[in-house]
Amino acid sequence: MKTYNSQPAGTSRNPFVHELKFTMTDKIKIGLMSVTVFPVRLLLVSFFMLLAWPFAFTAALGRSDLVPDPQSWWRRLIDFCLRVIMRAMWFCGGFHWIKVKGERAPPSEVPILTVAPHSSYFDAIPVTVTMCSIVTKLESRSIPVWGTLISYIRPVFVFRSDQHSRRKTVEEIKRRAQSGGKWPQIMIFPEGTCTNRSGLILFKAGAFIPGLPVQPVVLRYLNKLDTFSWTWHGPGALKILWLTLCQPHSSVEIEFLPVYYPSMEERENPALFASNVRKLMAKALEVPLTDLSFDDREIILSRGPLQIHDCSSLLHFNQLVCRLGLKTGTRDNMLEEEARRTTKLQGDRLGLEDFAQFLNLPVTDTLRQVHNLFDQAGDGKIDVRHYIIALSTVQWPHKSMDSLKLAFKMYENEDSGEITEDDLAVILEIMLGVKEVELSPLFLQLQASDRRKITYDELQCLIKQRPHFSVDCLNFKDHPRSDCTGRLQSCNGQSHNKDD
Ligand SMILES: *[C@@H]1O[C@H](CO)[C@@H](O)[C@H](O)[C@H]1NC(C)=O
Repeated sequence: MKTYNSQPAGTSRNPFVHELKFTMTDKIKIGLMSVTVFPVRLLLVSFFMLLAWPFAFTAALGRSDLVPDPQSWWRRLIDFCLRVIMRAMWFCGGFHWIKVKGERAPPSEVPILTVAPHSSYFDAIPVTVTMCSIVTKLESRSIPVWGTLISYIRPVFVFRSDQHSRRKTVEEIKRRAQSGGKWPQIMIFPEGTCTNRSGLILFKAGAFIPGLPVQPVVLRYLNKLDTFSWTWHGPGALKILWLTLCQPHSSVEIEFLPVYYPSMEERENPALFASNVRKLMAKALEVPLTDLSFDDREIILSRGPLQIHDCSSLLHFNQLVCRLGLKTGTRDNMLEEEARRTTKLQGDRLGLEDFAQFLNLPVTDTLRQVHNLFDQAGDGKIDVRHYIIALSTVQWPHKSMDSLKLAFKMYENEDSGEITEDDLAVILEIMLGVKEVELSPLFLQLQASDRRKITYDELQCLIKQRPHFSVDCLNFKDHPRSDCTGRLQSCNGQSHNKDD
């Protein structure tokens, strides 16, 4: 696969990690707080959460999913009580004062608030302050106590198991947004996942598809020690709770930015609308744009023996196939079916037109770019197997053994189940995003240096024994062996960060 040279902004950084470093003073403070303030706070926070439950439960009685709550005095009373209880809960958790800047626009004017950056479950603070609705997955409704509180704010539920869930969610957002203020405002975290707030990742289009005005809201956590970030690699939910409750004071600021009215062009092009709002919010936050999406997260975070070494080409490829709708959400047999059809080609290389036909797509500029990525020889033809391997890799980055198996199926000799050294080198080049793979260390390990062929089982066996397979058993261009000595420490896991 060709190297993608003009890298999108900031994609060599990984905002999905959060490494906490404590000074000695921090540790002593945390130790002291843990045995004094922490238990009291935990008790009080739990108390207020439990106290909120009967109110939220009562409010949900006799409510229909399809119509907004009628305004009645008792609902208003419950709403008031819940706000007070929630505020008390945050207070006991260390958020003694919550600074609010700017002015919130009324629901009749702005149906949607877009909030960023999303980094933690403490981002629930602006939700409880405003009592806006949110978009959340259906499963959260069944969390004890918290689920009832979530239901209270009339969230838009996402049915993950439903194939059309994305469309249905957008339709529901639209329906409520166009109700002219009858439904509560919806708060949307358009990044769709938590980052460590070092930059704004790409926005999902959901909040922008209705084409109605949005009010951007930015969040700032002002403590020097960041105990809030809850990312995919970093401290877990309980540790964050513990560390945050051990801080003497936790400072958060919510700023309502001026309402953003989309232009005619933005109304027709939600991606443009999203992109412009994102720029504006990044500017208000004074953080850079990081052109990564929710979908890229798993690629960046791939781990294990076949960890992706350099993500840039695969990230670029991923963006293109997402745009073409070639990725399917669930593991079905489509990719296997395509692999079977590819095997039938018997290594025949396809031009752009044939490739389009193979995928049942029209020839477009995006498709041309995908095709071009695999046109190694520059003669306008590609080996479709390369495309399948790349697609499998970006689709299931954490199931690299499955991708490897699929690749073997396309290359192996039917009788012996073996593939040649050259073919394996190509497969690994694509899967790891590296160049010039050379396999002598691998065959040395197998003690079969003269055979130069390998079966899937042999390879799988070797990989199982080798947590650092790619570093130990392969040679490739820019191999970490050449630029670091403390291999296990500095190359394991962070090798794709090395050009920071
Ligand atoms: C946050 O992400 C950036 C990359 O965007 C990274 O360089 C930094 O180390 C991360 N911060 C922490 C505290 O892990």
